[in-house]
Amino acid sequence: MKTVYLGMTADIIHPGIINILNEAAKIGEVTVGLLTDSAIALHKRLPYLSYEQRKQVVENLKGVARVVPQEDWSYVPNLRKYKPDCIIHGDDWKTGPLSKIRDEVISTMKELGGEVVEVPYTKGINSTALSETLKSLGTTPEIRMKTLRRLIQAKPIVRIMEAHSGLSGLIIENTEIVKEDGVHSYDGMWSSSLTDSTCKGKPDIEAVDLTTRLQDLTNILECTTKPIIFDGDTGGKSEHFVFTVRTLERNGVSAVIIEDKVGLKKNSLFGTDVQQQLADIPEFSEKISAGKKAQVTKDFMIIARLESLIAGFPVSDALKRASAYVKAGADGVMIHSKEKNGEDIREFCLEFRKEYKNVPIVLVPTTYNQFTEDQLREWGANIVIYANHMLRASYPAMLTVARSILEHERSLEADSLCMPIKQILELIPGTK
Ligand code: SPV
Ligand code: MG
Repeated sequence: MKTVYLGMTADIIHPGIINILNEAAKIGEVTVGLLTDSAIALHKRLPYLSYEQRKQVVENLKGVARVVPQEDWSYVPNLRKYKPDCIIHGDDWKTGPLSKIRDEVISTMKELGGEVVEVPYTKGINSTALSETLKSLGTTPEIRMKTLRRLIQAKPIVRIMEAHSGLSGLIIENTEIVKEDGVHSYDGMWSSSLTDSTCKGKPDIEAVDLTTRLQDLTNILECTTKPIIFDGDTGGKSEHFVFTVRTLERNGVSAVIIEDKVGLKKNSLFGTDVQQQLADIPEFSEKISAGKKAQVTKDFMIIARLESLIAGFPVSDALKRASAYVKAGADGVMIHSKEKNGEDIREFCLEFRKEYKNVPIVLVPTTYNQFTEDQLREWGANIVIYANHMLRASYPAMLTVARSILEHERSLEADSLCMPIKQILELIPGTK
């Protein structure tokens, strides 16, 4: 009996897939190469279902003999490994971004002495529309929370953008650009203490309480599905932090980041004259441990933020603290600096990685913004946070319009600086 290889994502099983599977089963014994989260996440949105869930579905489809992981977007490594007599694919890959994948498959199968079978694409199935429908189903707190850990596993670097309102959340949820290697989008949102307090006209000194910040966060949760990392400032007292952890977890937030400062907290990027005291290592470690003990699920993450470099201490101090906090149970570390050249951050990352191969590193490259995500990943970073850009983008735009109307004593001149009324009416899905 011949062997047939069929690669699939299987997040949505539709009649087109069943059709190819039936054709494959007519030829021989079918091996499904199921794309792993990481194979998919480099080119597309993370699948709705986990690999294990998708595997369970595919194993139970009629005609499937076995399911093997396809760790790469390219079929070639698995074709070399399993040496099937035949590979089958829909003929829609003849054009568009998949045509390169097709060329590779054809030459590899030729080399291996196998055959490439192309099945006519099933018309009337729009997988983009199906995926939109899936998105409109929304999410649950549990699914949203777990997604951050899945993304860290699946992606070379996780891209997080600040959101301070439902509207900015929607931009992060929906903005996509198509590049040669696939669709690029944001992986999740940062709920920033700086932008949350700035929106309220207050300084970033823990003056906005958790309840108020959660009310705003609820607006974001209402209209988005992507994971959220919450800026927990210092976390307050241990006794209070345990309640914060539970509240965030219950709401489906994926992670909280707390910083090792004491006294009146000031924003880390504030002038150099601001003296900020650092926490005692044992005390801050105890806060992390208390938080870890308080959480109900295994999915929620507590990330320790190291403020050594901000407070003028050397990289060695940050490394010492990082080690203590990881031992206390921290699920990751965030290292912050306001140096422009990024040297201190790079040194920290490379040193930390020598000892901790898998503990996630979070970077906030606001001042050292000349480095690309790829460069930060090479240093060892797992998550990059653009911490305040949505708010900083909106303020000058609003100010320019406010000044123009004052200047001209009418709004005609400001109109071209504003979104058209028709567009704003169509912006929000569900507007009638
Ligand atoms: C925030 O966004 O509130 C942060 C990051 O804590 S920073 O402003 O760079 O300190
Ligand atoms: Mg903050």
